[in-house]
Amino acid sequence: MSEQQETVRRKRALSCIQPTGTPTLGNYLGALRNWVALQDEMDGCFAVADLHSITVRQDPQKLRQQIKEMFAILIAIGLDPEKNIIFVQSQVPQHAELAWLLACNTQFGELSRMTQFKDKSQKHADNINLGLFAYPTLMAADILLYQPDYVPVGADQKQHCELARDIASRFNNLYGNTFVVPEPYIMKAGARVRSLQDPTRKMSKSDENQNACVSILDDKDTIVRKFKRAVTDSEACVRYADGKDGINNLMEIYAAVTGKSYDEIEREFDGRGYGDFKLAVGEAVAAELAPLQERFASLMKDKAYLEEMMKKGASTASYVAARTLSKAKKKMGFVL
Ligand code: TYM
Repeated sequence: MSEQQETVRRKRALSCIQPTGTPTLGNYLGALRNWVALQDEMDGCFAVADLHSITVRQDPQKLRQQIKEMFAILIAIGLDPEKNIIFVQSQVPQHAELAWLLACNTQFGELSRMTQFKDKSQKHADNINLGLFAYPTLMAADILLYQPDYVPVGADQKQHCELARDIASRFNNLYGNTFVVPEPYIMKAGARVRSLQDPTRKMSKSDENQNACVSILDDKDTIVRKFKRAVTDSEACVRYADGKDGINNLMEIYAAVTGKSYDEIEREFDGRGYGDFKLAVGEAVAAELAPLQERFASLMKDKAYLEEMMKKGASTASYVAARTLSKAKKKMGFVL
């Protein structure tokens, strides 16, 4: 792209995370870390997706605290509130409004095919609510309101991002050009971090087994202990291969954190046992997370700053979102 074109419109990235507990190493490597890396090249919009989290029942008091903590985490990982729009989704009412317009342009069949809906309906069989079913239309609204070019996510959100693209294209075809049709942006290393106890499944906050999941706020001893207990195999050879899900997962994590290739990792641990390797992965992860843990602790003491940043984020986000929403409403025939 020429310099002149670049000044016309910088690329834009948008992504969100649910405040349903402390983020895992999976959230961090699959998404959060990449948001920070993008902030120098693109205009970023990053949000705490609290409206999404109530598709599963939440304790109100706990939710309130988790929203504040997640907002602080977004700044603690290194997102600069001066460079990006960092906000809480429920403080920007346009999300819920656009979601309705999009819901009327989304098919029942499309939503029924979403694997996350199928998984969550199984997990929460007593509460298969309309919001859980319509979740992807709210996510499409989150995205399309900010006209981003890229949506940096982990691999598990690819299907939702593709639905958002389909909804945007359909809307544009029906009513005229309204939305940018965004691309999912999925990094290879860290796109699908797996459970340390069952490496056929993704690492998830909701895992009942504490050893399966590393939280980004775990202290060094806890992290090292969890990696020590990680499920591997009996070959005792650090190499990336079919059927070695546990070792493959640890190699992916180590590669994502250190920037080393699989070949380099295999050479580094040639002739050494899994004990050495697990310790190295644990220590590398702990070292990567230590600075953000420190920033998080000091930010949580500065309530006034966090409140100010939250207000500022909501106000800038509302300004951008209101413009897109008006455009969409006008195109659909509403009287403004
Ligand atoms: P959420 O809150 O479940 O996860 C936040 C981000 O973390 C990624 N992720 C992972 N990446 C690699 N390995 C894992 N084990 C792992 N677990 C989670 C997710 O892919 C995600 O990028 N629906 C979204 C939140 C959302 C959103 C949006 C995202 C709401 N609106 C608009 C993008 C754009 C979700 O539940 O993510």
